[in-house]
Formats: sequence, structure tokens, C-alpha cells
Amino acid sequence: MGKIHILHENSEWTEPLIEALEKRRLPYQDWFLDEGIVDLKTEPPDGIFYNRMSASSHTRGHRYSPELTAAILRWLWRSNRIVLNGFRALDLEISKVVQYTALEEVGIPVPRTIAAAGQKGILEAWDRIGGSVITKHNRAGKGLGVRLFHDRNALQEYVVGNDFELSVDGITLVQEYIQAPEPYIIRVELIGREFLYAVRVDTSEGFELCPADACELEISTCSFENENVLGQSEKFEILSNFNPPFVSDLQKVMENNDIHVAGFEYILDKKGNPYYYDINTNTNYNAAAEKRAGISAMDRLAEYLGTVAEEC
Ligand SMILES: Nc1ncnc2c1ncn2[C@@H]1O[C@H](COP(=O)(O)OP(=O)(O)O)[C@@H](O)[C@H]1O
Ligand SMILES: [Mg+2]
Repeated sequence: MGKIHILHENSEWTEPLIEALEKRRLPYQDWFLDEGIVDLKTEPPDGIFYNRMSASSHTRGHRYSPELTAAILRWLWRSNRIVLNGFRALDLEISKVVQYTALEEVGIPVPRTIAAAGQKGILEAWDRIGGSVITKHNRAGKGLGVRLFHDRNALQEYVVGNDFELSVDGITLVQEYIQAPEPYIIRVELIGREFLYAVRVDTSEGFELCPADACELEISTCSFENENVLGQSEKFEILSNFNPPFVSDLQKVMENNDIHVAGFEYILDKKGNPYYYDINTNTNYNAAAEKRAGISAMDRLAEYLGTVAEEC
């Protein structure tokens, strides 16, 4: 069996996967990507490669990890290595515009979105959409730059003020605000392009919805109310016997874009229509919610990686 190489830039998020691989006694190689070289004249190591690069890597001091990963993924591709979440998956991870075009390509509804380079463009975008809008970074994750504005003046004040923060790729998205009748979104987890489960995430506390335990810790340390760990964890609830909309189309998006493992997020509008607005190819799972539901996505992922490695 070939080794399973894990490409990533966040050891905290990778730990649960490594534990699951060790439990199954699967051979793996932790490949932390911050700085390094890619010698195009050489051959990559044997084995399979699983890319978990994160769009928010620059917030952890790893500004160029996605660019380095892009180079490595091309090198692996050239050498015919099996890569799970290949270079096209990375293209999606680091650009919501690429995500939205991939969703629309197969007919999945996406909130109306305008990409703006430059502050003036953000207001021009509002003029086209009007009403309540969400701004967000094109290269995001962790809810970067996600803000809600109900009118043009409030948006203008933000755009010219000190709080304005530009996406690391310079592109701000202005998006139609989908007002959900109840404060939650649903995240749909697929592993090996198969639906595993849907998790409901309570959004009443804000927009940063990373399910990793490491992120929850961050939230609880800065929480004013000092909620207990259980209170924080119940923010995530795995839904049983639930069939999310558009699953077969999500699978098409995965096939079209070299994605094997991903979490897709959608929100319902007042009429109950679903809109997908985020694809996470570096997906994390909430351990407390999984414990309550008696399921482990990391174990399923380890099993899947083991099967692929066995075949190679
Ligand atoms: N168009 C929208 N309408 C309403 N809420 C939204 C919209 N877009 C994002 N949100 C909220 O903001 C959160 C973060 O946005 P998202 O696009 O998932 O960014 P990130 O990639 O940083 O997670 C979402 O989970 C959701 O709660
Ligand atoms: Mg999200």
C-alpha cells in the first residue's frame, strides 16, 4: 500500500485525521506546507496525496501556502500521482467566484453576487443589487470580511472607514443577503463524493462558523458570556434521516472540479428555497456533534483514503 500524504498548513486541524489514520494503522506522511522548494526535474514520492490546503492560511501567517500548494499539485499531476482534491479543487478553495460558477454550471442556485476590485466597485455593486447585502472576501474561510448592510450609506461608511479590510486577493464580493426564517445554515458533508451527513449550524452568534474544535476554542476564549463547552458545541447538530437538496448536483460539481472531499453550505430563504454559498474543500468536523450522533467523518475519511491508497 502507498503512503497517504496529507498536504496542509494547519496542524491543529490535521490532528483528528492523523488520529483516525493511526487507529486504522494506515501509513501516512504529514506534509506541512509553508515554505519549501519544488524541484520540477525530480519525481514526487510514491503514494497518494490528499490536499487540505486552506483559503484562510494567510490569517495564520502562511501567506503563500496556497501558491506553494498550487505548484506542488501541478507537479504531482504531471507525474500522474493520484491526488484527492487536486489543483482544480484548490482553485475553488481560494476563490468564491470560482465556487459560484461551478455551482451555477450544474444549475444549483447561488445568491446573486458581484465581484468588486477596488472600493468604488463595491458601491457600484450595491447599486445593482440594492436592499440588504453581505460583503465577503473572495478568498475567505472563517467568515473573513463577512458583514451585513441594510442600506447604501452604511456600506459606504464601512468601505471608506478604518474597519474596511480587503481580501488577500483584492476582490470583495457583494452578495444578496438571504434572510433565513430561522437562524441556521446547513452544511452538507461528502467524502469520496458520497453524502455522509448534514449538520445544522446555529448562526445566531455570528458568521464565523468553522466546525473544527480548535476554532471553537478560539470562539469560547473570546466570548463575553463565557459559555461552557457544551453550550458552544450544541451550535452544531447532525441531522438524521435528512436528505439535503441538490446532492446529486453537488456530486457533479465534485466530478467536474477534481474534488473528492468537501463540505457545502446552504441557507434557506423566507420561502424555504435553498441557496448554496460556500464550498469547503478543507473541511473540518465537529467532534461533540459527531459524538452525540454516533458518527465520525474523520474515521470515514481515513477509511476512504485507505481504500484509495490500497488501489494505487
Ligand atoms: N448571502 C448570504 N446571506 C445570508 N447569510 C450569509 C450569506 N453569505 C454568508 N452568510 C453567512 O456568513 C457565513 C460565512 O459566509 P461564507 O460564505 O460561508 O464564508 P466563509 O468561506 O468565510 O465561511 C455563512 O455561514 C452564513 O452564516
Ligand atoms: Mg462558510
